[in-house]
Amino acid sequence: MLSEEHNRLLTRVENNAPAGKLLKNYWQPAALLDELEGPRPVKALRLLGLDLVLFRDEQGRLGLIDRDCPHRNADLAFGRLEDGGIRCPFHGWLFDVNGKCLDTPAEPAGSPLCQNVRQRSYPVEARSGIVFAFLGEGEPPAFPEFDCFIAPDSHTFAFKGLVECNWLQALEVGMDPAHASYLHRYAEDADPDAGYGKPFRGVSANSNLPITKVLREYGRPRIDVEQTEYGLRIVALREIDQTLTHVRVTNIAFPNAFIIPLSEDMTISQWHVPVDDVNNYWFAIFTSFKGPVDKQSMRAQRLAQYDLPDYRSKRNRENNYGYDADEQKRATYTGMGHDVNAHDQWAIESQGRIQDRTREHLGQSDKAISAYRRILRAEIEKCQAGQAPMMALSAEQAATHRGPVAVDGLARNVEPEAFWKNLDAERRAVAPWPSRSPMAAE
Ligand SMILES: [Fe+2]
Repeated sequence: MLSEEHNRLLTRVENNAPAGKLLKNYWQPAALLDELEGPRPVKALRLLGLDLVLFRDEQGRLGLIDRDCPHRNADLAFGRLEDGGIRCPFHGWLFDVNGKCLDTPAEPAGSPLCQNVRQRSYPVEARSGIVFAFLGEGEPPAFPEFDCFIAPDSHTFAFKGLVECNWLQALEVGMDPAHASYLHRYAEDADPDAGYGKPFRGVSANSNLPITKVLREYGRPRIDVEQTEYGLRIVALREIDQTLTHVRVTNIAFPNAFIIPLSEDMTISQWHVPVDDVNNYWFAIFTSFKGPVDKQSMRAQRLAQYDLPDYRSKRNRENNYGYDADEQKRATYTGMGHDVNAHDQWAIESQGRIQDRTREHLGQSDKAISAYRRILRAEIEKCQAGQAPMMALSAEQAATHRGPVAVDGLARNVEPEAFWKNLDAERRAVAPWPSRSPMAAE
């Protein structure tokens, strides 16, 4: 439970609110590279309460600038991509990717007005299918050498989805290992071979045990939470019998991402980035340690569940998430189909546009959430005091961040910690990128 004041402090981002200021210290996912495909690579964005335009100029350079033209504030998202930048259709003012004014054609020849005008621009960098933006002051931090950033393009796939509520409650699902036993419970186990690209569908590594069965039958995980240099490591243990323990290792990469296993071979690195106080996008990089990712089928699976161009879930508030009371009795815990993203969408959005945490009652299963909120508050306060928050990394520091370990498997007659370290090392040994152990970094 939080006081109203603390709930406000941790959730609000608009108008440079303290949490918004904190989030501006980091590279944040702004768009998928896919969204700049096609004949007119211009995309209007709202990010942390700012209205922006992302575009690719004729030379292929990416630019992110404020959306309102500095002349008389018309909308640059309708601009003409030409002559080395984006041109406002109102009076033809032209800006390049750095926000430099190149032309004010309605002004007298030789007018110096152009030199006195600059549109605010923000650094952008494309990584693993996502355009990341830095909306803060000064120099952007370096990217940590996490697997999702250093894997080759062939081994990653990126997608996004709109969540119509505050960012924090969405992120809090990703650090909650207990909910999967309930929210994502199925009466019957799916065919693991048909589960490519889908969470909680395969068998637990090192076993023939379907993950769906483990989650269904073992609903009281022991949860160990450890603070790390990058955020939190969360280890959930489900004791099957005296010799077998199901082990799931997930992470919070501070401030607003989680890194979790998808399957034996893949992980999900997922950000929840605020659009404003009451909307956020999830951006995920799926990283394969074994073969290349089948991007076509990953994309087709997700396009069946989301409507473009906003990437809005087809199951949403307006249609009660497709809730079916009969299905809820027979087949799924929610009555909302078999896609876990739809379950999460309902859970998060049903908490309200901004969850009122003065009314919640946390239990033992929520200990990672409590731990995260303590860190978030401390880092917001650091920022307010003018200090650099954690994970705002220099290039030197970034090079020491790797992994992190995100695995799901069945430990047999072995200590869970030895088991997950070994499982990670085995998988890392076949990965086609420098396979330095993430554990050596700590
Ligand atoms: Fe979930």
